[in-house]
Amino acid sequence: MHEHWDGAFTTKPDRFGSEPSVSAKVAAEAFARLPVPHPDVLDLGSGTGRDALFFARRGMQVVALDFSGVALDSLKRAARSAGLSRAIQTLRHDVREPLPFPDSTFDACYAHMLYCMDFALDELAAEIFSRFETT
Ligand SMILES: C[S@@+](CC[C@H](N)C(=O)[O-])C[C@H]1O[C@@H](n2cnc3c(N)ncnc32)[C@H](O)[C@@H]1O
Repeated sequence: MHEHWDGAFTTKPDRFGSEPSVSAKVAAEAFARLPVPHPDVLDLGSGTGRDALFFARRGMQVVALDFSGVALDSLKRAARSAGLSRAIQTLRHDVREPLPFPDSTFDACYAHMLYCMDFALDELAAEIFSRFETT
């Protein structure tokens, strides 16, 4: 399925635009209330990173995870030209596989328009919902 998304981002790299989503704005307010000055945020299914870039601009450290290498390459370029390379790490990974991080690596986990993909509930529940409190 990552081939589908690689193709989609190759055909239209700006398909989700560069403005942050409404969800990211709401999440950023919640993240700002965390008792840490620069929260470490995991952005699952980041795509080309409009929301990852938004979080990074607000001083957060972001790991942008997606299984589309095309999307992540685009995000890396955008982060570089925004001077945010140090605030954003990218990781090519399929969320149906166990997350390659120890517990408590992140202060917050965020996903926008990922859970609406074609997943069996238990593919996500096993790994993601068991490791993060949901809000
Ligand atoms: C609808 S896009 C949303 C992108 C981004 N969150 C945004 O709002 O602009 C869904 C993203 O999820 C990624 N994705 C879908 N299934 C995935 C999986 N199993 N593992 C990792 N990423 C996945 C796709 O590559 C795509 O970038």
